[in-house]
Amino acid sequence: MTATERILLVGATGVLGAPATRALVAAGHEVHGTSRRAERLSEVESSGARGVVLDALDPASIDAALAEVQPTTVIFLATDLASFDYAANARLREVGAPALVEASHAAGVDRVIAESISWDPHSAPVAALEHAVMSHPGGMVLRFGLLYGPGTWYAADGATTARAGVGVVDAIADTTNWLHVDDAVSAVMAALTWPVSIFDIVDDEPAALEDWAAVLARRAGYAGVPRVTSRGPARVADGAAARSLGWRPAHPSWRDGLGL
Ligand SMILES: NC(=O)c1ccc[n+]([C@@H]2O[C@H](COP(=O)([O-])OP(=O)(O)OC[C@H]3O[C@@H](n4cnc5c(N)ncnc54)[C@H](OP(=O)(O)O)[C@@H]3O)[C@@H](O)[C@H]2O)c1
Repeated sequence: MTATERILLVGATGVLGAPATRALVAAGHEVHGTSRRAERLSEVESSGARGVVLDALDPASIDAALAEVQPTTVIFLATDLASFDYAANARLREVGAPALVEASHAAGVDRVIAESISWDPHSAPVAALEHAVMSHPGGMVLRFGLLYGPGTWYAADGATTARAGVGVVDAIADTTNWLHVDDAVSAVMAALTWPVSIFDIVDDEPAALEDWAAVLARRAGYAGVPRVTSRGPARVADGAAARSLGWRPAHPSWRDGLGL
């Protein structure tokens, strides 16, 4: 059992932040979960967390939240992808994450854990996020594989699954390291006690695009061979460091659940 932390979880209404909030509360931590919109705080509070309004692009709201909560740990699980607005998501990484980290440092926060991505960590916005986080003495980066599971683009009702159902799979990369949302949550929990570093958090089976596209299309009800597009090659993750600390995915292969 880890010590009880007072946690400010930024992005508590998201596909990852919501289950992470529930799991951290269940583990006995004092969790303060954020949304930009006051009307969504009831979602956060239904998980047993306290709701806090915070916009990472608004420094005043960061300062106010930190002053109110005085967290020991800040967990950044915010993305801005619900409307497929990649420019907004880049701004959140390049501007929002560094502002949050700097303010957390000034407020005396011990640990900052932030979500990153395994397949493109050197692109400018992601590198800016990682650089900011690792400049904090308690900074930790979790480079997640491509998330699948409830609420994601690859869920039964997800956007990519719908396209696969008509025979088109648009991929981020030629090869994908997958990660079930539940396993991202278990890694966030485990990271509370890990040494500060950058970790790849991925399942055990990197997947070639044609391979997973065929599985997703079949599960989406498409009988033929789907047409695939990709943005090109990508970094393949190395999950050894997290495994050396005892973390294992409960879903070791994307084959068991992609699209379901
Ligand atoms: N590694 C991955 O593969 C990965 C990771 C994340 C998401 N995704 C994909 O992205 C899709 C959308 O994700 P999502 O449903 O979680 O929605 P989202 O729009 O990406 O929002 C995620 C969280 O970030 C918060 N947020 C957004 N902008 C913020 C800001 N400026 N300041 C503070 N918090 C902010 C949101 O809070 P409010 O909107 O309540 O303010 C929400 O809690 C998913 O379907 C998933 O497939 C993939």
